[in-house]
Amino acid sequence: MELDVKSKVKGYYGGIASKVAKSSKSSCCSKSSCCGDISASSIIYKGENLNDLPKEAVEASLGCANPVLFAELKEGETVLDLGSGGGINVLMASKHVGSSGKVYGLDMTDEMLQLANKNKEKMGVTNVDFLKGYIEDIPLKDGLVDVIMSNCVINLSDDKEKALSEAYRVLKPGGRLAIADIVTMKPVPSELRVKAGMWCGCLGGTLAVTEYQSILEKVGFKNIQIEAVHIYDKALIQKYFINNEHLAKTVSGIDLDMIDGAFAGAYIKAVK
Ligand SMILES: C[S@@+](CC[C@H](N)C(=O)[O-])C[C@H]1O[C@@H](n2cnc3c(N)ncnc32)[C@H](O)[C@@H]1O
Repeated sequence: MELDVKSKVKGYYGGIASKVAKSSKSSCCSKSSCCGDISASSIIYKGENLNDLPKEAVEASLGCANPVLFAELKEGETVLDLGSGGGINVLMASKHVGSSGKVYGLDMTDEMLQLANKNKEKMGVTNVDFLKGYIEDIPLKDGLVDVIMSNCVINLSDDKEKALSEAYRVLKPGGRLAIADIVTMKPVPSELRVKAGMWCGCLGGTLAVTEYQSILEKVGFKNIQIEAVHIYDKALIQKYFINNEHLAKTVSGIDLDMIDGAFAGAYIKAVK
């Protein structure tokens, strides 16, 4: 790719975090103006109570499915969210694990960490810590975590095997992986994959289901299940990407027929 992946991804998500922070300050929020498309969050998090989360956490939501739904979190567990963004999944998880549990969010982008920490403060939770770092070099000790969650982040990594082996390292024996990510369902022309917008918008760097499975096996995971839950046909791409001011540039200039049905939001589960 004609880019340094990490710096492009940081710039892209830093820009989104700044926009969300700014738009909430000037309180100009409405679906058609300066904020994110909240309706996408209400589809992804259908059935979850989002009303008790800070609205900036919901507006900065950039996930592709709801990992909290299948992470089966229990009171007292320690959870790590890889690529925590504005904190939506971390703050949701904090309610499930309660005051005897702990949720870490890990992100490399300063602006996202600032937004997440503000959201934590607004919600008044005490069992959450946002950490700065890379998912390919997790700043936590071996065997600390019961559950690794992540929402639409592994596809952004320039070294997915390293990221997943780091996830394995910090899990306790018997610990669970609950990742929502976008996967490739059919071949995608390589000239599309290398476009910076496609990569930053979570499409260019996606793995095929078989590739995901073999990396997870290679780093040691067992009981691997990968289930495509939302196929991105043209209508869904229109809804999630083109109608979303943050994500529209992901697919700008691309003939949608070429990627119709090529991607899907998936649930990825495994055990250490
Ligand atoms: C698509 S957003 C998803 C945010 C959040 N999980 C959500 O559901 O809203 C991707 C996030 O992952 C972070 N990220 C991407 N690559 C990363 C890496 N290699 N290490 C740490 N964070 C990363 C970005 O800074 C961004 O906040």
